[in-house]
Amino acid sequence: MAGPQRMEIRELRENELDLAVLPCVDPGFRRTLKQGMVLRKEFVKKMMRMRLSMLVALEDGVKKEKMDYPGVGKVRTKDLSLQGKIVAGLIEYVPIEKTSFPVEGKNLAFIDCIWVIPPFWRKKVATNLMKNFFEKTHEQNFSGAAVTAYQKESWWGFFDYMPSWFFQKFGFRQVERNGNSILMFKNYKDAQSPKFILYQPKSTPKPKQKSERTKAELFWSGQCPYSWWVKKLAEKEFHKISNIELNFVNTDDRTTVKEFGINFGLTINGKIIYNRMPSWDEVRKALESVASL
Ligand SMILES: CC(C)(COP(=O)(O)OP(=O)(O)OC[C@H]1O[C@@H](n2cnc3c(N)ncnc32)[C@H](O)[C@@H]1OP(=O)(O)O)[C@@H](O)C(=O)NCCC(=O)NCCS
Repeated sequence: MAGPQRMEIRELRENELDLAVLPCVDPGFRRTLKQGMVLRKEFVKKMMRMRLSMLVALEDGVKKEKMDYPGVGKVRTKDLSLQGKIVAGLIEYVPIEKTSFPVEGKNLAFIDCIWVIPPFWRKKVATNLMKNFFEKTHEQNFSGAAVTAYQKESWWGFFDYMPSWFFQKFGFRQVERNGNSILMFKNYKDAQSPKFILYQPKSTPKPKQKSERTKAELFWSGQCPYSWWVKKLAEKEFHKISNIELNFVNTDDRTTVKEFGINFGLTINGKIIYNRMPSWDEVRKALESVASL
């Protein structure tokens, strides 16, 4: 029977992590990002032992063979599905004490990421994910929730990256701001506000001498397959540029994040260029501007 489309929200178990990466990468990009997807599964598996939860929105009953995927084109429905269900979106959260984002706080559920795939935008998928998130985190006795959001950070020019307006709709309020990143918080009961852990360059930059190389650092994590790819391209394109010393910092581990105060981004000579996940174009342009090609 061709019933109405149905959505189910549920928490993933450790043996279902293919569902936790499927929505992250559009089908045309999966071969390129294969290794990044493997790393994401490893990251999530490790973090599940620290009480990371992954809620996914599964859509039933989409009978069309192809769907419009804004920004990509027509995509086969079966390439968005596993076991006959489309993974339309996910929300990933973890106790703030364990997150690999540069924040600290007490007994708050920290949202690492919420993502709805473009064919399902504006169909209340995220609203349902958030409702389920609030139910679960109340049951889990968290005192509140927090997220790092952004204002007017446009990704690939067509969507807002972790937009603060979205979290505002669900009662989150700004508690700190660092450039474009906004730490948002929702108090359930007697919670203390969270704080940012701010960027600390490992060495204080000295005035640069003419012959010195430019020091750049790219921060990436297995949490996001895309960040692995940007790292890989930067390695390939810029390792031979003699005036740039390019280092890569993997931030899967919270100890590293606490040391630097950054988990995704780019710094040049100790100055933050991006304090969020930069796109490859952004990294390439920033490094080209300091490279002697
Ligand atoms: C923001 C996001 C989660 C919204 O998902 P969604 O399923 O389309 O949202 P919903 O349909 O549940 O809508 C929730 C509210 O947001 C509003 N909304 C959703 N998309 C909007 C848009 N592009 N512009 C303005 N308002 C929008 C809806 O109107 C609704 O508001 P209302 O409750 O007042 O009517 C989704 O666009 C997304 O995944 N964006 C990228 C997030 C990101 O950067 N993640 C990290 C990278 S992987």
